[in-house]
Amino acid sequence: MLDKSRLRIAMQKSGRLSDESQKLFASCGIKINLQQQRLIAFAENMPIDILRVRDDDIPGLVMDGVVDLGIIGENVLEEELLSRRAQGEDPRYTTLRRLDFGGCRLSIAMPLDAEYTGPQCLQNSRIATSYPHLLKRYLDEQKVRFKSCLLNGSVEVAPRAGLADAICDLVSTGATLEANGLREVDVIYRSKATLIQRDGEISDEKQELINKLLTRMQGVIQARE
Ligand code: PRP
Ligand code: ZN
Ligand code: MG
Repeated sequence: MLDKSRLRIAMQKSGRLSDESQKLFASCGIKINLQQQRLIAFAENMPIDILRVRDDDIPGLVMDGVVDLGIIGENVLEEELLSRRAQGEDPRYTTLRRLDFGGCRLSIAMPLDAEYTGPQCLQNSRIATSYPHLLKRYLDEQKVRFKSCLLNGSVEVAPRAGLADAICDLVSTGATLEANGLREVDVIYRSKATLIQRDGEISDEKQELINKLLTRMQGVIQARE
């Protein structure tokens, strides 16, 4: 059983944010051994437990109050927020600090030979994505009607597989799009990693530890600028 008096922080187990999250913890002086393939890692020198989970699960863990802090991409956070609101929930959390890594954009991409002069070209199209709420918010604003095809992985193969006319997915270097014969036609959301805290009561000890970590992060990030 986990000790609830220890600060619980969720981070991505493997993916674009994991190395940088791990580096940030280390530069804040948290000594953890993340080598083993473990879900939970215990800090040796501070009352902190690190939970290593899928990035998509992190916003929910914070909103449900299961962990105290989480490092997550704003894109995943915003999608979870919109999704929960659509289900009638009123999810709460606090953003402590926008971080200086994990930069990427959520973009619409189409096959190289498809014509695109603006969002109207997507009228009545089918778009594959893992971010249906962010996509809908954008295209509703543009008064574009579309059908979404929800895929949680391999989104980039959807047009070739005949599943969709376009995709809406994260782009970082652009290598995935290029390898799949797709062209980025519109950026709908720009994202970075961010540190969030759960809502609700927290012990003075935990709050002091959070403040100490934030001060250290401030120093680390400023030094990198
Ligand atoms: C995103 C996206 C692409 C890739 C694009 O996945 O779904 O697969 O990154 O990056 P590139 O432009 O550098 O090629 P992500 O890393 O977020 O993984 P996940 O979908 O498994 O969370
Ligand atoms: Zn993911
Ligand atoms: Mg992916």
